Amino acid sequence: MPKNMADYRIGILPGDGTGREVALEAQRILDTIEQHTNQGFDQIVIPCGGQHYIETGEEWAEGSFDFCRDEADALYLGAIGHPGAYLPNGDLAGGSVILGLRSGLDLYANLRPIKLYEGVPHKVHGKFTQIWEPGMVDMTILRENTEGLYHSLLRRSADRAMGRTPYEPPEMTFPGLKGEVAYDPRPISEHGSERLIRMGFEIAETRNGAPIDGKKRVSCIDKSNVTRGCQLFRRTFDKVALDYPDTEPDYGYIDAFTQWLTRSPESYDVVVTSNMFGDIATDLGAVLQGGMGMAASGNIGDDNAFFEPVHGSAPKYAGMNKVNPIASINSIQLMMYWLGRKNNDDELAQIGSLIDDSVADHLRDGKGLTYDLGGTASCSDVGEGIAARLATKLQDTF
Ligand code: IPM
Ligand code: MN
Repeated sequence: MPKNMADYRIGILPGDGTGREVALEAQRILDTIEQHTNQGFDQIVIPCGGQHYIETGEEWAEGSFDFCRDEADALYLGAIGHPGAYLPNGDLAGGSVILGLRSGLDLYANLRPIKLYEGVPHKVHGKFTQIWEPGMVDMTILRENTEGLYHSLLRRSADRAMGRTPYEPPEMTFPGLKGEVAYDPRPISEHGSERLIRMGFEIAETRNGAPIDGKKRVSCIDKSNVTRGCQLFRRTFDKVALDYPDTEPDYGYIDAFTQWLTRSPESYDVVVTSNMFGDIATDLGAVLQGGMGMAASGNIGDDNAFFEPVHGSAPKYAGMNKVNPIASINSIQLMMYWLGRKNNDDELAQIGSLIDDSVADHLRDGKGLTYDLGGTASCSDVGEGIAARLATKLQDTF
């Protein structure tokens, strides 16, 4: 099909381990869209990560951060983390990529939808079961992505990515502590909280409410009975909530939330929380949707964004063509929605929902599942199967 639109430039950062394999399936989806629509994607692959660091002495080639910031319309990241790959200062090698981009591009919201598709079993106590019903698990967790407990590592990683002297928190002594002490400051700002919480309420406007009652609800998950940062986060939440009178504000402490999340996921619609709480809660949330192989995410700022599966590089499965590529494919789905909104390109949003339909059909069909969902299909089998369904839908639609 002739291309009549300017191509979008997509930076592809495969990273480490199985990240490299699932990145190929993300690229297959971009290729499929390109073949069957007028959309064009100029895919620029940027080698990076811990293994790349061991092989080359660099986390990624010089200029990569500038390319991601200034040249790319959107970014995709596979996974970062290679056994034994640490920098001389002890930080994760590849951190400049994942954390440097989050901080350096000010990608303040980590969007992690949790939806259970029909036909997906989830593994609890070692067996495939169906504890939660499809339709009853459909929420989005928004994790603050630029401050909190990650603050100093984020700052150091961005400094490295931008060629600046890496930040170190000031030396401090703590009354009552003896011997060597390591500490991580956990600053939470009103500005950082407000923009994240506002995005949460805006997203609630576009959704159908919580599965249990169809009510639009934003849940503020914190530990404001203990930390000052969380008290500021909750005060900011209350202030923002006043601007959205049709959405129900809801509150929970992170410890209690982990119970409610597993016992009654149907009561959640949009959840906003701080950085480390969101990191932990979304791995638990992934269990509700069939495991880490199903969990997609977007790291979103005002000008840039990158999309990545929530799972890590799974070194023990690397090179085996075994892991589930759906988290990766659905990260491209999220990319299409974001890119469409940013460029007023409604066709991209339509393409995003056709990716969703293709994944849903594939899972409902139940044939061709990877090991984590009880099947024997390979990573590329699943990628090919979903891409074939998408090709048909695109042909029928465009
Ligand atoms: C995630 C990961 C990262 C994080 C690691 C790889 C630094 O666990 O994206 O959830 O902690 O944010
Ligand atoms: Mn994590």
